[in-house]
Amino acid sequence: MKSHIPAWHLANQRVIVRIDGNVPIDNGIILNDQRLLASMATINMLLDKDARIVVMTHLGRPHDHEPELSTKALLPWFLYAGYDVSFAASIQEAQRLLDAGSTFVLLENVRFFKGELDGDATFAQELATLGTYYVNDAFGTLHRNDSSIALLPAQFDAQHKTIGLLVEHEMHMLDKIMKYKQKPFVAIIGGGKVHDKIPLIEKLLPQLSALLLGPGLCFTFLKAAGTSIGRSLLDSTRIDLCKEIILKAEQLRIPILYPVDYIVAQNSYDGPLDLVDTKQIPAHDVGVSIGPKTAQQWAQHITQAKTILVNGLMGSLQRPETLTYVQDLYKIIALSDATSVIAGGDSVAAAYAFNAARNISYLSTGGGATLHYIAGQPLPGLEALKDGTKAQ
Ligand code: 3PG
Repeated sequence: MKSHIPAWHLANQRVIVRIDGNVPIDNGIILNDQRLLASMATINMLLDKDARIVVMTHLGRPHDHEPELSTKALLPWFLYAGYDVSFAASIQEAQRLLDAGSTFVLLENVRFFKGELDGDATFAQELATLGTYYVNDAFGTLHRNDSSIALLPAQFDAQHKTIGLLVEHEMHMLDKIMKYKQKPFVAIIGGGKVHDKIPLIEKLLPQLSALLLGPGLCFTFLKAAGTSIGRSLLDSTRIDLCKEIILKAEQLRIPILYPVDYIVAQNSYDGPLDLVDTKQIPAHDVGVSIGPKTAQQWAQHITQAKTILVNGLMGSLQRPETLTYVQDLYKIIALSDATSVIAGGDSVAAAYAFNAARNISYLSTGGGATLHYIAGQPLPGLEALKDGTKAQ
């Protein structure tokens, strides 16, 4: 799939650009700007064509307009990058700024608007008033049914909507890596968003040689296998599916490895940290990350692998002490000759923090979206662009 932007004549045309600017932020500081940097190719090409752009993204998963999740936090980044950007808190304000001659408007967190997560076609119609063209460059969000991803494209005919340059690049790179991938193919999957990821693991499993599951994702599997997980992250609605995956892996003779030791937090995720040398999590503890023995054991699989996929950070960027042994793993991956893919905002940010990023074959801006893509699952954001008819 190719972007139509290079062929478009856009002088003075208004273009809506959906990016995935969902970057990790701590106390107003952007911890890693890979996703913003990756959106620049599309933004620059549109501005070079004298388009007037309205850029929109979500930031986190807001419940109640939390100020720290306002896209105002991204404004200094765009200003320092040299863009003449104005901020709009509402669709009406964005409209006014465009009417007054602004060439780059950054809209407030699109998830602050009620219709975004409600699949609200009326909200999509309101957003559509902001431009005559629509570009989706939010690779990391293509797997979502959010209005700005899956409904907004229906407001434009085939000649007025397209993917951006980042989406084109991601698909090209992932296609190439997966087409020529060699075995053993090892996936290391951890982090949150467990509900979304477990069905994707089921789809991915037959391609794999070994599956290494870490915190927090591993705990629903461990619960399904009858292991004590203390107060660790659990999605009880996915226990049956985990049992099926464990059985399927046995039938396919694909080993699933779990941690043999952990960094735990006492009582709650933010509690004091401790190292436990056991496969069972103590009753009051929360499994946060892997311990040194796990890193050592997993290293054997990683050094034998010819293709490595990492998704989901086992630990927290905000608490670097949770990442000590994850860092060991990343270093081994960086030193290996395997083709390596690290997918997802926090995982990629960790690769940069550990100085391992330069030795990874491909850093994908997508997390769940990349798993969807590799597992061959349809992406609502792409499907919506394929439909050439415009909604009435
Ligand atoms: C991501 O970080 O994976 C994307 O930005 C999507 O975010 P979401 O899981 O909150 O939809």
